[in-house]
Amino acid sequence: MPLASPPEQALYQQRFSVSYGYPVLFCSGALEPSSESLAWAVARAEPDRRHPVFLVIDQGLADAQEDLEARVLAYVKAHASVLELRADPELLPGGEACKHDPRLLEWLARRFVESKLDRHATVIVIGGGAVLDAAGYAASTFHRGVRTVRLPSTVLAQCDGGVGVKTGVNGHGAKNLFGTFAPPYAVVNDELLLSTLPLRESRAGMAEAVKVGLIRDATLFDFLEQHAEALSRADREPLRELVRRAATLHLAHIAGGGDPFETGSARPLDYGHWAAHKLEMLSGHELRHGEAVAIGMLLDARYAELAGLLPTAARARLEALLERLGLPLYHPALDASSSELGLLLEGLDEFREHLGGDLSVTLLTDIGRSVEVHEMDAARVAEAARYLTERRGR
Ligand SMILES: NC(=O)c1ccc[n+]([C@@H]2O[C@H](COP(=O)([O-])OP(=O)(O)OC[C@H]3O[C@@H](n4cnc5c(N)ncnc54)[C@H](O)[C@@H]3O)[C@@H](O)[C@H]2O)c1
Ligand SMILES: [Zn+2]
Repeated sequence: MPLASPPEQALYQQRFSVSYGYPVLFCSGALEPSSESLAWAVARAEPDRRHPVFLVIDQGLADAQEDLEARVLAYVKAHASVLELRADPELLPGGEACKHDPRLLEWLARRFVESKLDRHATVIVIGGGAVLDAAGYAASTFHRGVRTVRLPSTVLAQCDGGVGVKTGVNGHGAKNLFGTFAPPYAVVNDELLLSTLPLRESRAGMAEAVKVGLIRDATLFDFLEQHAEALSRADREPLRELVRRAATLHLAHIAGGGDPFETGSARPLDYGHWAAHKLEMLSGHELRHGEAVAIGMLLDARYAELAGLLPTAARARLEALLERLGLPLYHPALDASSSELGLLLEGLDEFREHLGGDLSVTLLTDIGRSVEVHEMDAARVAEAARYLTERRGR
């Protein structure tokens, strides 16, 4: 029976819209005292007042760049006309550890209180995607949301999560169970921050660039193919272009995709991610997010090929590119003889729950083209998994 609408006189229809926008700067040396980028990012709307700032830095980044904290402090001092440091910078453990431990959020919120942060303050977060997610989540709920300026320090964060609108922490065994849609106030993508990133992390981040090329822009995919060897060494020039092009496509998708806060079920930016999220968990986070995405993308490409959606040549191009970039394409959980294959398939149900409503999985029909499907055949997923297992032996 159709639902009856309430009588007109009993209904007041509330309606408003909020417009969002934020700058993303691409630069080199944002923490040099002579650079205006970060000061502008914080103070651009009100350049005539001092802005209270609170700094959160990724511990792993601080360990790799020992002078980082001193450089940040010197920067704030050089821009004291607009920046006012409220407390000593705080370090958060890097990687998934910071998203797992609720006590860290509690502690960070306490530090915000002790530093008397109000809604006009700015939290500046410098770090990888995990620290941006965790500190961004804390900032977006503190006083119902304080401004966040992000300086992503990994390839993945600079071209994907760090320029997007989501924050999140893990809970009850599920990734990103708690989180917010909270657009940053600004993002400063400084290529120099990447100089100490281990090669494995750089390559993992490139998987997200492959992903956005696959679903949105075949010319980015061509570019990645042309520079695959140089990229696998994280050479600066092609890496700079990869970050810029992937970030821009990611941003354009958020703004132009019609669903920035993901109210619907279609999630093209999550291509390859249903399996990736599960594999990350099954590996106890030994697999990096981007590595799991690489495996998930090839798994779904093979699935699409088996389903007659994707030409074999396109799957082969993807497979070759991922391999040339130095990304892993196998994990023991894919092995049919392992008890984990069943667990991997549970990832589809978890993905459905995460989306809410119907299952919606993005599958490729060509490089740069995709469709949404609402059912996945378990036997075919197993067959695709077998392909990844067997190719390893070749
Ligand atoms: N919010 C989103 O939309 C979104 C999107 C994609 C991924 N993510 C999340 O991002 C996380 C993965 O982020 P990531 O791949 O950026 O890695 P990461 O944050 O897990 O960091 C990886 C490691 O590198 C260290 N590190 C960071 N920058 C460094 C540098 N410049 N030099 C040396 N070491 C450095 C960190 O301390 C950590 O040990 C996952 O939790 C994932 O869920 C979020
Ligand atoms: Zn991802």
